Amino acid sequence: MHASDLETASYGKLPDGREVKIFTMTNSKGMSAKVTEYGAILVGVIVPDAKGNKADVTLGYDDLAGWLGSKNYFGATVGRFGNRIADGKFTLDGKTYQLAKNNAPGGVPCHLHGGVKGFDKVLWSGKPVHKSGARGVQLTYVSKDGEEGYPGTLTTHVTYWLSDNNELTWEVDATTDKPTIVNLAHHSYWNLTGDPTKTILDHELQLNADSYLPTDKGLIPTGKIDPVNGTPMDFTKPTKVGAHVNDDFEALKFGGGYDHCWVLRKGTGLRTAAILKDPSSGRTMEVLTDQPGIQFYSGNFLDGSDVGKKGVKYQFRTGLCLETEGFPDAPNKPEFPSTVLRPGQTYRHTLVMKFTN
Ligand code: GLA
Repeated sequence: MHASDLETASYGKLPDGREVKIFTMTNSKGMSAKVTEYGAILVGVIVPDAKGNKADVTLGYDDLAGWLGSKNYFGATVGRFGNRIADGKFTLDGKTYQLAKNNAPGGVPCHLHGGVKGFDKVLWSGKPVHKSGARGVQLTYVSKDGEEGYPGTLTTHVTYWLSDNNELTWEVDATTDKPTIVNLAHHSYWNLTGDPTKTILDHELQLNADSYLPTDKGLIPTGKIDPVNGTPMDFTKPTKVGAHVNDDFEALKFGGGYDHCWVLRKGTGLRTAAILKDPSSGRTMEVLTDQPGIQFYSGNFLDGSDVGKKGVKYQFRTGLCLETEGFPDAPNKPEFPSTVLRPGQTYRHTLVMKFTN
């Protein structure tokens, strides 16, 4: 391994003067990934297609100033609780906690992605790490007891690894000093064409899920688990994202397209959750995880107002997210897998994005 397969550089300064680093990982196949300490954000991923054409397959910005003004969580590590919590409220061990209500789909206020200043907007501390066949960046953030209204001091490590097999891994562990709730997620927007002026509607998606979580109009799960069979939510076989996204179906109306959590088939350890393919370039991304759910969001809130890399205005559905996670609103749904973390326990979450062409 060469020292140059992992470079560290300054990415500029935060308004408060703190310096922010950016790391570039490059593997032996010419794939590379950039990660910054700000928000533990995946800044970009360069992937070759079948003809060897390299392109960046994620949405984002060209510089730190862009990320500082980001509204869409491009590439971010979201937490402490990724996805939504109804009314921003939950009760743990008899005590009720009120979190920020920083989102209101359908006019219904809720807590989204960790609050006003979530993990996507804080400065992590990063360092290069190495293991056989991969190079990585480990980012650490200690969130104070009470930060964004959550109980407990939460110490979180996020490690991005780039292997020589074109696998990009996002790996998390977290520990707490008081009972709390945790549900981190990785929020990259993918456009495997490498040309974000194109929509993602021709991408083919397969989800290893026979059911999904229907929501109310505020995108909060009702608690029901519905089969996908016979509905536009069925991605058990590779299906174009655009094939049914505009169907007259309640879930799609509430989400303005796909914006739901699918219930992954049960199993132990890392398993395939999704396969995303862009037929035009041949680029394929397989998503593996150890989590119970995956939020598939078809970029329905992109409206051209966000100016990203190379000055591109990101239009409606030009990027999609596949957020592996615990279930949304789990803290208020005892029937869902628990997202409670207690002192002495370790929260773990692994997401692998494996690229082929
Ligand atoms: C998540 C949510 C979407 C949207 C995006 C960010 O994926 O499910 O509704 O809020 O984040 O814009």
